Amino acid sequence: MPNRPPGSATGIACANIAFIKYWGNRDETLRLPVNGSISMNLAGLETRTSVTFSDNRQEDSLSINGRPITGAALQRVASFLNLVRQMAGIHTCAEVTSESNFPSRAGIASSASGFAALALAASRAAGIKLDEAGLSRLARRGSGSACRSIPGGFVEWQVGTGDSDSYAVSIAPPGQWPLVDCIAIVSSDPKATGSTEGQALAGTSPLQTSRVADAPRRLEVCRNAILQRDFAAFAGIVELDSNMLHAVMMTSTPALFYWQPATLTVMQAVQAARAKGLPVCYSIDAGPNVHVITEVAEQERTANLLRGLPGVQEVRAAHVGGPARIFSEA
Ligand code: DP6
Repeated sequence: MPNRPPGSATGIACANIAFIKYWGNRDETLRLPVNGSISMNLAGLETRTSVTFSDNRQEDSLSINGRPITGAALQRVASFLNLVRQMAGIHTCAEVTSESNFPSRAGIASSASGFAALALAASRAAGIKLDEAGLSRLARRGSGSACRSIPGGFVEWQVGTGDSDSYAVSIAPPGQWPLVDCIAIVSSDPKATGSTEGQALAGTSPLQTSRVADAPRRLEVCRNAILQRDFAAFAGIVELDSNMLHAVMMTSTPALFYWQPATLTVMQAVQAARAKGLPVCYSIDAGPNVHVITEVAEQERTANLLRGLPGVQEVRAAHVGGPARIFSEA
């Protein structure tokens, strides 16, 4: 039952970078993943989303960074609001406004921070107060990776047995390990194939079965490396997982190639720098930009190295971020 009548609320959530990646669903509607994943929240790369339910509204509306949005993106948000309305037992339409403080040209996916902030704001505005697991489950329905932007710090999304236990939990607070993600931006063009579309092809790759079968092992190695602050073990497993993801993408039908020549330049420079003793490793999502993870003490050296590489347009750094939070409610 609603705690209070529907009103408005504003939520804030960080983006996240997965070290062990989510790619493929066993249930598309519920967004139940084929494997668990581990990520780190990205402090300072945030989306702030306000939701206002009002009886005067005939339909849901959406604006992102000041621009009115219609079509498929609005439909995705309206379907998500339907879940919230169902939970709250209301039928009211809502106005949703969302702002991200990182330009989409930075090539950092905003669906994780966006749906995490929306889950928090919409549920509160609808008059219901969910616990962290409930919020994470709700965010998962909007975008899988969004469930990992609800808890703080280093986060694991449990594969679960079904809707009720497939959510993300914090495995260590932000202070556990002062890591920083130096994002080497090599292209700001919109990607040709979005994550949802790309993931639907995962099962067509003959390599996906092996990637998924080996996932519990990679999750364990990654989790232990974080808990023990073991950079060598961490670097090995993070790069392996990213390489396996891209092997699946490249061997899907149709094949998906997200890399640009500069992507490979950065990957090779990172491996060469690590061989010389710099604690760095790379991880690449469904795009050409390279997330280079290092320890905060080496942030400047790493950023300078990346800035000097041909094809790198810009480097953005993000430390380990906290949980999604309510900014205001009325
Ligand atoms: C490569 O969470 O964006 O970044 O659930 O369809 O919205 P949807 O997909 P999304 O996929 C993220 C894919 C990834 C890996 C990861 O973040 O785990």
